[in-house]
Amino acid sequence: MKNNAELIFFSKWLKSPLRVASVIPSSAQLARAMASALPQREGLVVELGGGTGPITHALLQAGVNPGRLVVIERDSHFCRHLTRRFPGITVLRGDALHMAALVEGLSSDTPTRAVVSGLPMLSMPADIQRQLLQQAMHLTHGKGPLIQFSYSLASPLRRSVEKELGLIPRCVAHVWRNVPPAKVWTFESAAACSPYLEERIEATAS
Ligand SMILES: C[S@@+](CC[C@H](N)C(=O)[O-])C[C@H]1O[C@@H](n2cnc3c(N)ncnc32)[C@H](O)[C@@H]1O
Repeated sequence: MKNNAELIFFSKWLKSPLRVASVIPSSAQLARAMASALPQREGLVVELGGGTGPITHALLQAGVNPGRLVVIERDSHFCRHLTRRFPGITVLRGDALHMAALVEGLSSDTPTRAVVSGLPMLSMPADIQRQLLQQAMHLTHGKGPLIQFSYSLASPLRRSVEKELGLIPRCVAHVWRNVPPAKVWTFESAAACSPYLEERIEATAS
């Protein structure tokens, strides 16, 4: 499965490098570090840009109920792959920019506890970043977090977007065993900074 996933991913990257943004899927270590940034409360987990599913797998391994995991992926081939690989989860084909409408269209009463993003946030213009973060905050009722990995040294969000939306960026893990090495960031509203952050052990995956 792993090699097959890497092959699918690589062929997608060849066709649209800007959309896929990485030559190979995230490592298991990076995926686990993303999953360990989840808050302990109840609710839906919304994953953006599932690709071949390394983070989806880690979220399920971390105990997320498949019935409460929603993956939004733009690419139809990746969607089919995710549906086959993870029976029981909800895979929605669509643009993460419409995440609120897509998730609300499920008519679930369950609140969203976190948005976990594998999108190439760093390369997105400020207005797209702003729209994505506004929607994530809308879905989580202003609590967040949005969990995002990035290959950059600094936060993948523009400072202007963080400031305008009143978001607190936190780097919660450095993952060396990934190509390239990556950091895991959480973004939460300053107004609703939740106590889970103080309780969480900052995981450093090696
Ligand atoms: C860097 S890959 C990450 C894939 C996977 N999560 C991982 O960690 O290996 C980015 C993924 O986001 C998807 N994607 C990019 N822009 C998107 C958008 N606006 N809405 C939904 N999916 C998007 C791409 O198709 C691709 O699967």
